[in-house]
Formats: sequence, C-alpha cells, structure tokens
Amino acid sequence: MGGREPRAQRPTGAALLGPLRGAAQSAGERWPAPGHASGKQRRGLGGGRRPQQVIMVSIPEYYEGKNVLLTGATGFMGKVLLEKLLRSCPKVQAVYVLVRHKSGQTPEARIQEITSCKLFDRLREEQPDFKEKIIVITSELTQPELDLSSPIKQKLIDCINIIFHCAATVRFNETLRDAVQLNVLSTKQLLSLAHQMTNLEVFIHVSTAYAYCNRKHIEEIVYPPPVDPKKLMDSLEWMDDGLVNDITPKLIGDRPNTYTYTKALAEYVVQQEGAKLNTAIIRPSIVGASWKEPFPGWIDNFNGPSGLFIAAGKGILRTMRATNGAVADLVPVDVVVNMTLAAAWYSGVNRPRNIMVYNCTTGGTNPFHWSEVEYHVISTFKRNPLEQAFRRPNVNLTSNHLLYHYWIAVSHKAPAFLYDIYLRITGRSPRMMKTISRLHKAMMLLEYFTSNSWIWNTENMTMLMNQLTPEDKKTFNFDVRQLHWAEYMENYCMGTKKYVLNEEMSGLPAARKHLNKLRNIRYGFNTILVILIWRIFIARSQMARNIWYFVVSLCYKFLSYFRASSTMRY
Ligand SMILES: NC(=O)c1ccc[n+]([C@@H]2O[C@H](COP(=O)([O-])OP(=O)(O)OC[C@H]3O[C@@H](n4cnc5c(N)ncnc54)[C@H](OP(=O)(O)O)[C@@H]3O)[C@@H](O)[C@H]2O)c1
Repeated sequence: MGGREPRAQRPTGAALLGPLRGAAQSAGERWPAPGHASGKQRRGLGGGRRPQQVIMVSIPEYYEGKNVLLTGATGFMGKVLLEKLLRSCPKVQAVYVLVRHKSGQTPEARIQEITSCKLFDRLREEQPDFKEKIIVITSELTQPELDLSSPIKQKLIDCINIIFHCAATVRFNETLRDAVQLNVLSTKQLLSLAHQMTNLEVFIHVSTAYAYCNRKHIEEIVYPPPVDPKKLMDSLEWMDDGLVNDITPKLIGDRPNTYTYTKALAEYVVQQEGAKLNTAIIRPSIVGASWKEPFPGWIDNFNGPSGLFIAAGKGILRTMRATNGAVADLVPVDVVVNMTLAAAWYSGVNRPRNIMVYNCTTGGTNPFHWSEVEYHVISTFKRNPLEQAFRRPNVNLTSNHLLYHYWIAVSHKAPAFLYDIYLRITGRSPRMMKTISRLHKAMMLLEYFTSNSWIWNTENMTMLMNQLTPEDKKTFNFDVRQLHWAEYMENYCMGTKKYVLNEEMSGLPAARKHLNKLRNIRYGFNTILVILIWRIFIARSQMARNIWYFVVSLCYKFLSYFRASSTMRY
C-alpha cells in the first residue's frame, strides 16, 4: 500500500545537476501561462506519470511558476506554510488560499490580518509585494462543492498545479458529525475537484501521526479504515445528533477521540480516491513552536502543549497524568512545513508509483521525554517568569491514580477555592475554580498522549532528506537529529510569552519580583500551617507530644554524633 520505492531514482552527482540547473534557470525567466506546468517540469517528466528520465530541480526551482492551492491558511500550520513557500520559493506564481468567513470578518480581511502579523515580518522585508501572490478564495469546505462559484471553480481547475490540504478540525472533543464533515467529507470534495484539474501535479494531504494511535508501531502505510467512510457518511445523514453521540464511543473503539478516528478515515479516502492523482500524506506528531524559521519559538495559539506550558508557567497547572518516561513526540512547525514542501517537490518530480506516506516525528531519531519537558518548562519559566503568575511554577507529572487525585485536590482545587474566597471578600467575582475546571477538561483530552509511547517508522522522512541538494537541506531543513531540545524548549516557552500572551521582555524584572513575592507568601503560609498543626495536634495530645519529643531527641542525637565524629577527624 505505502509506496516507499520511488518510481525513478534521483540522478546523482553535480555533473547532472549543474548544467540542468542552469537550463532551468533560463527557462524560469519566462513565466508560464497560469495553469500550466513549467517548461522545466515538462522537459523533466515528459508530462507522464512514469518518466524515462528524471531531471532534478531544486525545491525553489520546482515551485517556480506554479499555482498552489492551500486550505487551512488561517490555521497554525497553514500560515507558516504560506510564509515559507512565498519566502523560500520566491518565483512561485500564486498561492490560492481557500478561506471562510469567520466572526464577522471576510476571508480577505482575515488574510490581510494574518499577513500583517509578526510571522510575516521577514517576508515583508525581503519581498514587500508578496501579498500580490496570495489570491483569496471564499470557501466553506463543508458546503457542497466547497461553496465555490462556477467561474472560480473553473479557474482553479484550469490553473492549479499543487494542492496542500491542511484544513481540519483539530478539536479532540468535536462531535463525530462535525469531525466527519470537515476531516472526511471536505477531503473527499477537494479530491473530486482535484480530479478535474487539468494541470495538477501533486496532492498533499496533511494527516496526523496519531491517526492509527490504536497501534503501537506505526509504519508509513495507510492501514485499513475502522469503518467504510462512505457507509459512515450515509448513516450520519439519517441519524439524529443524539443517536450519533450515543454510538460515537462504540464507533471510535480504542481510539481516544473523534479527531484521530476521522483523520484515519480521511487517509483512506485519500488513498482510494486519490489513487489516480500523485498523492502524498504527511503525518506530523504534536506540532510545536518553530525551531528556527522565520524565527525561533514562533507560536500563536493555546492548542495542545502550548496551553499546558502557559498554565504551568502561570503556576495554575501543578500536576498532570503522564508517564515520565514516555516519549513526548513534539515536532517543530517549521520542520513539518519544510518536509511538506519537500514532499510535494519529491512527488512532483519523481511521480512515485504509490501514495507516499511520511511519518513526521522525532521520537525515533531524537527522543525527548515528558519528564524532560516538565523540567525544561519549569526551569525556563522560573528564570523568565510569566507576568502575574498565580503561583510559582512547579509541576508533578504522575501516572499514579491516587497521587494524581491527591495533587489535584491539594494543588489545584484547594488554592483555587481559597483564591475565589479571597476574590469574593475583596468584592471581585470568583473565577479560579472555573479556570481549573477548564484546565482539567483540556488535561483529560491530552492525557492519552502524555501517558503512552508509540514507535513510528520514518524511513520515508530519511529518504526524502537524502534526496535534497545541500542547498535545499539548509533552506528546507527537517533533520530533527540536529534539534537541541533544551534550547528549543526555552525558545518555545519564551515564544508562548512573547507571541501568545504578548508580554514584553521589559516586564521581566517585575515578573521576577512577583515570583519572589509568591515565594515569600508560600514560606509564610507554610509557617502558619506548621504552627496550626502544632497547636491542634501536638499541644492537645500526650501521645503526639511524646512522638514529637522522641523525633526531636533523635535529631539531636544524630547532630551530636556527627559533630563529635567531625571534630575527631581534625
Ligand atoms: N497542530 C498539531 O499539533 C497537529 C498535529 C498533527 C497534525 N496536524 C494536522 O495539521 C493540519 C493543520 O493543523 P493546525 O494545527 O494548523 O490546525 P488549526 O490551527 O486549527 O487550523 C485549521 C485550519 O482549518 C480551517 N478550517 C476549519 N474548518 C474549515 C471549514 N469548514 N472551511 C474552511 N476552512 C476550515 C481553519 O480555518 P478557520 O480559521 O476559518 O477556522 C484553519 O485554517 C490539520 O490537518 C491537522 O490535522 C496538526
């Protein structure tokens, strides 16, 4: 099923690359008419799926003159992909982004806002006119025909060369109906549009490494689906929401949520319906802040681990169910994007016989564990605190059921309860218990992923890396063996502070002072607690007093013994 063997081998040696690169460059001087593969591509592949001779072009050369369609451009990965594609492949013809109306904003206004944000600073500096290449198409992917008007649809059919399908609902607690609608049905609709495209070269589907998280060992193949997606979609049409929700746990079986379940179904749809297209599936694990590009630590949302890191930094998250030794398979967003762009290049140039699946993970080559995540998050936020922290950062990860519930009661609920009382007394409305309940819900959704480990084969990722020219290896680096986790985690945490919470670095001294104040409050609180315990138990009970004197005299004897033995040595 999974195509690991490319149809044509990459020619080796600079002898071949040198002169062809020159020829490609001169061909690139002429912009090809929209909707047509570039001259280079046609010469290289002969327009067929099984080339006799493959001419390798670099990644930027491959994208030269191409029209790219991107879904999910307003999302976390989509915007990083858009920026990187425009910046590192400056001769790309145009990027058509399918965007829906949201919160009263038009798709154009949304893209305008996104491209004006910090993520695009570097691109704006390097290519001030980059926005001219972004063509915004209004599209609600769950609507019939993707909600595209006939002329626009025809335009896409005529001109698109490469599709990146990033849009999805990534909410773990999405209803099955909504998850199927977006993750499966819209993928099916996009594939059907892709089939009509006359110049399409590659269809890239972004999936997740957890699509088959019910397996411990995950290869780079599409596994049989848990249910026939068509039958499921037919059934959902006549079932009411109550019934759908009732049968959801039975349907998803040993998967933890509707997200992973529907992503597995989508992969099957891509495999079945994309058989005649040149298709590749990218499966990232847990996508985190950027490693290097456009600058280290860029992140703009609370999703997944970022929200937990912030909660830990604020001192609200004190415990979580996790296996300390389990692999935390984080992968930086720029690694995923670089690999996605390279995978499209590889499929476009080589036309592999079968669908290519890439597990885009770090655990196999550069493992990092949840205990290490905890250590680095806490130490970073102790050195560089978040503003107005609730308590000093400290987290206990545990897989022990009793300990977990103990810490939840003592470290989460009790302080939140006391703080809410304080807020009431001072005439403000209580809010901490609500925050804690929201945090617990988020933790519950994530604990499956922090308590288990998986093994992913990453041979295709390695193969792809080996295909890149030395220059592309630098520009589109996805070699996670080079990732230094301590440095990455520090940048990640600082990224949450700067780009998610919009806190200024100039506020650090005040934040540190606040943390010292919290430490003094804790010392004061603990002293009062000890005195109270003394008053209640020791002063009132003879037995407690006897135990107390016994412990004190034992300590005294130990001290005297050590003092005596250390004096004897001199
Ligand atoms: N983030 C991760 O950790 C992770 C890990 C593994 C795989 N992935 C995969 O990577 C891809 C991108 O994820 P992400 O983290 O970037 O997600 P995200 O930030 O939630 O973005 C999702 C994108 O899909 C769009 N979308 C959702 N519903 C739509 C609809 N009905 N019509 C049109 N567009 C719609 C969203 O547009 P709006 O802005 O209009 O909502 C947004 O642009 C997904 O396929 C996901 O499964 C992500």
